[in-house]
Amino acid sequence: MQGAALTVRDLSASYGPVRALRSVSLDVPEGACVTVLGGNGAGKSTLLRAISRTLAFHGGSATGTVHFDGKPLHGTGADRVVGEGICQVPEGRQVFARMTVEDNLRAGALGARGDRAAKAAALRRVHELFPVLAERAHQRAGLLSGGEQQMLAVGRALMAGPRLLLLDEPSLGLAPLMAARIADTIREINSQGVSVLLVEQNAALALKLAETAYVLEVGEVTLSGNADTLAASDEVRRRYLGVVDEDAAADAGRATAEHPVLTRWEDTP
Ligand SMILES: Nc1ncnc2c1ncn2[C@@H]1O[C@H](COP(=O)(O)OP(=O)(O)O)[C@@H](O)[C@H]1O
Ligand SMILES: [Mg+2]
Repeated sequence: MQGAALTVRDLSASYGPVRALRSVSLDVPEGACVTVLGGNGAGKSTLLRAISRTLAFHGGSATGTVHFDGKPLHGTGADRVVGEGICQVPEGRQVFARMTVEDNLRAGALGARGDRAAKAAALRRVHELFPVLAERAHQRAGLLSGGEQQMLAVGRALMAGPRLLLLDEPSLGLAPLMAARIADTIREINSQGVSVLLVEQNAALALKLAETAYVLEVGEVTLSGNADTLAASDEVRRRYLGVVDEDAAADAGRATAEHPVLTRWEDTP
């Protein structure tokens, strides 16, 4: 597995008159795990759709540039994006409920590069990562639990042999233990060389996985930097990690009074 770098510059996106992203720039270095945090409606899914060139399927459009492995992706089709090695695990999993687990996985290999041997190897790897998908191969996907469906959605994306995995809120709606298991597999996939761009509302989980984090608010990047530094900052602890530390909250309140809220800061990794 060989990851590749993604570079997004000045990306803006709209759905008709609704502006969803404003001049977003971000980087996923080769082999890195990068997270984008943000609440509901911040523009996280829109960002992934703009990268995977699937925005038009949702009635949206984008301007700005996206380069992958040095090649421009803006102006190309969603099929070419998959061919280049970018796979998206959509929000809400969206497995084919009436198809078997095995057929869902096969569908993930459609349109991917690689011969039969490569696809067989990809299937073995998915079964190693998620043994339950081998055990349930002939069951309908709709019968799996939420966590198992998320595993299937990730497994389906891996069938295409991605160099960059786009994950849209994989922990959403899962019990904490299941979310932690999904996080472990994301770490494992990343450690095998696949670059990861993870968008999450679950900041605690995402900041543990990623090296670099961006905070998206109403379509704009308001904070970015090293994930550990961000996790330690009062602003992020209070707003995204739900830390109710009275002193920290008072400090943050004072800081807010002195400085404008969420001034953009960056630190070089
Ligand atoms: N298909 C769509 N048509 C119109 N507006 C949309 C569509 N999808 C998202 N939006 C709007 O774009 C903004 C960003 O949404 P989204 O990217 O889904 O945010 P997030 O994934 O962070 O919850 C929101 O204001 C949302 O209402
Ligand atoms: Mg979303």
